[in-house]
Amino acid sequence: MNVAMIDDRILDANQIERPYLDRGLYFGDGVYEVLRSYNGKIFALEDHLARFKDSLAGVEIGGIDIDRIRSRILKAFDAAKIPNAKIYFHITRGSAPRDHNPDLKIKPNFFLTISEIGDYSKSKINGYKVSTYPDLRWKMCRIKSLNLLPNVLARMDAAKKGCDEAILVDEEGFITEGASSAFFACFGGNIQTAPTSANILPSITRKYISKAARNLGISFVEKSITVEQAKRADEIFLGVTTKDVIPVARFDDAAISDTVPGSITAKLISEFEKFTR
Ligand SMILES: Cc1ncc(COP(=O)(O)O)c(C=O)c1O
Repeated sequence: MNVAMIDDRILDANQIERPYLDRGLYFGDGVYEVLRSYNGKIFALEDHLARFKDSLAGVEIGGIDIDRIRSRILKAFDAAKIPNAKIYFHITRGSAPRDHNPDLKIKPNFFLTISEIGDYSKSKINGYKVSTYPDLRWKMCRIKSLNLLPNVLARMDAAKKGCDEAILVDEEGFITEGASSAFFACFGGNIQTAPTSANILPSITRKYISKAARNLGISFVEKSITVEQAKRADEIFLGVTTKDVIPVARFDDAAISDTVPGSITAKLISEFEKFTR
């Protein structure tokens, strides 16, 4: 008999439950999204669905009906009744005995959770402390894949240093993005961030930050930033769906900005808020 062991329990390998055979578990073979609601209204749902569709195509998981995903999200959100909710969902290629080369007949697995977004107003006032870490990720970071070990290691390193986020730095010394956020710095009244061609996730928050900047008449420059430049920035802030715009008060050993949030970051926070009403 083929045998499996789950903790101390031995069982017939034919009786292993589907979740244990999920390719997401074996290989990180799946893609995910995180979106949120503000006061009972889901924010940027179509943007997230479009990115999810791109991620699915990027890892060649086919046959997913995006309209059905939208309906599931709406149904679960309705059931949860959480006005400020974080909605996480993923699709993996499916469950099967371990083999790198997938059986293309297996059925993808869908999983979703909804939870309340805690109060993060203090981080908007105090700002984040961030620390740099090498960007050890693969070359297709535009795909929101379940393979997040480099991001996990980066966040663990940041936590050990008492920091809230890790900022990833590529081999040429350029900042790509945060381990779980987009990265922005302000120089001489302009906002600067890496171009999307720099092996980063096309952040949805970034899209709305760029729109907010346009509304405010602030230039949005897509040009990579070095660590040394970042340390001398007038302001630094992060963008992430769950918290939108978060000021950064400390970058490695450098204090950033005289006030937190800095004036551009503060303007962006209030402009962004208009999108969420
Ligand atoms: C690596 C990375 N970059 C950027 C972001 C921000 O993306 P979004 O604005 O779509 O939440 C995230 C969000 O989780 C991320 O994990």
